[in-house]
This record gives sequence, structure tokens and C-alpha cells, in this order.
Amino acid sequence: MSQFHDITTLEQLEEFAKVWAPTLQTGDLVTLSGELGAGKTTFVKALVGVLGGEPNDVQSPTFSILHHYRAVPAVIHIDAYRLEGVEDAMRAGIQDVLASEGPDSITFVEWPEKVPSLWGPVTAHVTLGEVEDAETQKKQRILTVESSFTS
Ligand SMILES: Nc1ncnc2c1ncn2[C@@H]1O[C@H](COP(=O)(O)OP(=O)(O)OP(=O)(O)O)[C@@H](O)[C@H]1O
Ligand SMILES: [Mg+2]
Repeated sequence: MSQFHDITTLEQLEEFAKVWAPTLQTGDLVTLSGELGAGKTTFVKALVGVLGGEPNDVQSPTFSILHHYRAVPAVIHIDAYRLEGVEDAMRAGIQDVLASEGPDSITFVEWPEKVPSLWGPVTAHVTLGEVEDAETQKKQRILTVESSFTS
């Protein structure tokens, strides 16, 4: 099912993260889709904060591809933007980390569409985007969660 959320401010994102984080379980993998600057990393930051981690440690892993955060459960944060295929991902050790640590962690993947075959079962697809408010013409952030469970 799909759920839509108007999330215009960081405060609204924090509120959403508080409600949503408890629905996640170890072994879950969440993909984050949206343009450059849509708010994917900021979303992970909010979730890591709610899971007891240090949100300030969360940065776009664009250059290192994969980050770990101490939280409960542990969080794996992957940014596939620079991956050029499955072999490249293998060189970066992505599959190894997912196989060994994924079952005990919650994994977030930015730019999953760069290597679509890599992710196995996806718990939730989160899409971040912008729409213009018809009345005020103000840009509004919209977050869509597609998941296989109801919450
Ligand atoms: N819900 C929000 N409300 C207000 N500002 C936000 C929100 N989400 C993100 N931002 C702001 O948007 C900017 C870009 O966010 P972020 O780095 O999370 O994007 P991204 O999707 O990870 O980009 P990239 O594709 O480059 O990794 C940041 O300055 C962030 O503070
Ligand atoms: Mg990012």
C-alpha cells in the first residue's frame, strides 16, 4: 500500500520519523528515491536520531558509498549514486556487508535504481519529491511510503 505525507519542514520530518521508526525491524531494507537534494540523507538522519544514533554523524556517503551508524538496531546507509553496476558494487563490498550485517541492521539505500538487482526484498520504497501548492505557489515536500505491510 502507499501512504502520502506532506512533509514541508524538518519538524514534520522528525514527527514522521518518530512514528515510522518503530515499525521497522532488523533485516529491513528501505530504498530512498528522489532527485539530487530531495532530502534522502536528511530522512536517514531523522531515522537514525529516533533509533538512538547520532544524527550529526549521518552524511551523504556519496564518496564512501557505505556508512554504518551505531543505533538500535544498527543502521547501514548506502549511497549507490556512484556505483556503475554489480561488479562495481562487489568491489565496494556492498553485497558482503548486506549479507553479513544486513540481518541485524536496518539498511537505507539512496539511489537504489543505479543497481536495481542488488537489494533483494525491499521493506519499503520511500519517494521524496516536491509539488507546488496551487494557492500559495510555494514548493511543498511530499514523501511517499510504499510498503507491503499496513501500519
Ligand atoms: N523535510 C525537509 N524540510 C526542510 N528541508 C529539508 C527537508 N529534507 C531535506 N531538507 C534540506 O534539503 C537539502 C538537501 O537534502 P539532502 O542532502 O538530504 O538531499 P539528498 O536527497 O540526500 O541529496 P543527494 O541526492 O545529493 O544525496 C538539505 O539542505 C536539507 O537540510
Ligand atoms: Mg544524499
